[in-house]
Amino acid sequence: MHETPDPVDGFQDSVGQGQVPDGAILDALRGVVDPELGLDIVDLGMVRGYHVTDSGKVDIEVALTVVGCPLRSQIETDTKSALLSIPQVTEVDIQVGYMSQDERSALMDRVRLRTSQSPPATQIGDRTRVIAVASGKGGVGKSSVTVNLAVALARGGLTVGLLDADIWGFSVPRMMGVDGELRGNPDRKIVPIERSVGTGMVKIISMGFLASEDSAIMWRGLMLAKALDQFLKDVAWGDLDYLLIDMPPGTGDVQMGLAKMLPRTEVIIVTTPPVAAQKVASRAASMARKNYLRLAGVIENMTAFVCDHGETYPLFGSGGGVRLSQELGVPLIGAIPIDGSVARSGDLGTPVALDPKNPIALVFDQIAARITTEISPMREMSGCSARMIDRVEQALEHAKP
Ligand SMILES: Nc1ncnc2c1ncn2[C@@H]1O[C@H](COP(=O)(O)OP(=O)(O)OP(=O)(O)O)[C@@H](O)[C@H]1O
Ligand SMILES: [Mg+2]
Repeated sequence: MHETPDPVDGFQDSVGQGQVPDGAILDALRGVVDPELGLDIVDLGMVRGYHVTDSGKVDIEVALTVVGCPLRSQIETDTKSALLSIPQVTEVDIQVGYMSQDERSALMDRVRLRTSQSPPATQIGDRTRVIAVASGKGGVGKSSVTVNLAVALARGGLTVGLLDADIWGFSVPRMMGVDGELRGNPDRKIVPIERSVGTGMVKIISMGFLASEDSAIMWRGLMLAKALDQFLKDVAWGDLDYLLIDMPPGTGDVQMGLAKMLPRTEVIIVTTPPVAAQKVASRAASMARKNYLRLAGVIENMTAFVCDHGETYPLFGSGGGVRLSQELGVPLIGAIPIDGSVARSGDLGTPVALDPKNPIALVFDQIAARITTEISPMREMSGCSARMIDRVEQALEHAKP
């Protein structure tokens, strides 16, 4: 195998005099992973060059492996979002090109080299979309939203991982109505607790399965630093469509850990209607951006109360979600009314999204549908596999007389 040049050396242009910090562009682009090849587009040599203007506009050329690659729109969207998550970047213009045969061979060499050198750092497969649900302050409904979203996605037939990253204040086991102790499999990996939902499945990991709610506090210093690490590395998650992460309030450390271990994590910010809450939530968003995590959108929770007669009462004011999404330049994915059934069902361990007749379940279904089709669509694995091309080429090579 011949040595391939470091793709970064090949950049024709680099950061101009703009405000964008050194290295920020490449750091952000490393969050864009080609789901088929399992490496980021920088390592794959797919970034041919970029230029940043003083006004913060990034012109970038991305080379795809083959013409007509069905992953094109996904890679374009992900590249754009990753770059826009740098606060100083105002606009992104992507030129899409295609690799020459030589470039493709170099890419395949790199893929083989990386695969032989570094085993995957986590048990989360490359095609799994990872979504962290965060907020600026506690009690806005992160856990309720994460749990019900996981259920809504699973009801649609998907396999969803649900990671309760709230190590001290875990609430997912209670809300999901699951109990039990985590066990290991013969490969010495922890097996998540499973709950079937419709034709889908939710696989859950929480400190709640390791410690009783009362004794969790004792685990603090001992576990906190290592817990997220272990939950990503030592859990046999299997093939997940989505991994949802219920973030603790005050998310600094956990976000940083996620950015390091799973830089492709996307963040959904939950906020409540008052405009004051919007300010707090935007702090969580800027934390995500500081870690170059992509902001996928905003969900407003505890929106107006709708009474039995259909009358709407904006109990906590209104407009926070819309304003926050405008401020951040990301979509408002949905708004969940305040409704006693959310709290009751959470306490009973039967998430409201399980009951298709409940109007709140419909809201979660709509949010789930928007996520799977538009916000963070599932990864197509059938597409322009450079690996497939490589195998065909190898086969032809072998077939030569
Ligand atoms: N849309 C809603 N309507 C009514 N009650 C709700 C709604 N969303 C959440 N709640 C209730 O509000 C409380 C806080 O919700 P939850 O625990 O999901 O918030 P959180 O942001 O995860 O909190 P923490 O920061 O403590 O982890 C819970 O009692 C929950 O049942
Ligand atoms: Mg919570």
